[in-house]
Amino acid sequence: MNSPLLERVQFLRAFVMHPRQVGAVLPTSQRAVSDMLALAPLEAATLVVELGAGTGSHTQAVLDRLGPQARLIAFEIDPALAQVLRAKVSDPRLQVVAGSAETVVEVLDGARPEVVVSALPFTSLPAGIGKVILQRAAGVLAPGGTLLVLQYSPLIVPELHRLFGSVRRRVCLRNVPPAWLFACTEPKAL
Ligand SMILES: C[S@@+](CC[C@H](N)C(=O)[O-])C[C@H]1O[C@@H](n2cnc3c(N)ncnc32)[C@H](O)[C@@H]1O
Repeated sequence: MNSPLLERVQFLRAFVMHPRQVGAVLPTSQRAVSDMLALAPLEAATLVVELGAGTGSHTQAVLDRLGPQARLIAFEIDPALAQVLRAKVSDPRLQVVAGSAETVVEVLDGARPEVVVSALPFTSLPAGIGKVILQRAAGVLAPGGTLLVLQYSPLIVPELHRLFGSVRRRVCLRNVPPAWLFACTEPKAL
């Protein structure tokens, strides 16, 4: 099992290799994770998708809230971080996809998650990719579902309002840097 310090080193290494893809120097704090997850009814979910799982700041916390029959599919584009996650979290409800969240529609193959949890750095991803992923995430949600988004600025707000009828927000100061948390529901038919 990895120590928290080793995980931070692995995360920092990934940031140094791909700064725009990782978008943060530290994993999300457990305070920001719990503030974010409190914005959606995870306990009732049968399928949850995580986008940009990194070293798993959200992963175990999501599993802790899910029922025994529920499933979590976690996407992580960096194979080294996906391997860290697989080694860290051993749970039959978890499927780690070492690939891009752009493939969410194909991977889900018609399954509809009630909650999608994203810590992807939308504003620093290569041009266009963030918008594509957000739109696909909105499109796969089950009726009544929620997309949770963590960002380090409010720059994404107009895009969230373009895609969703309802966008709630809160800010968590106990994170480096402070985290903007959004709960998006009522995806629009575009
Ligand atoms: C800000 S970090 C968040 C990591 C972790 N969820 C956390 O909160 O500490 C963003 C993560 O998204 C991953 N990522 C970036 N682009 C991605 C993509 N297209 N598909 C899946 N993961 C991606 C990065 O490799 C990185 O691990």
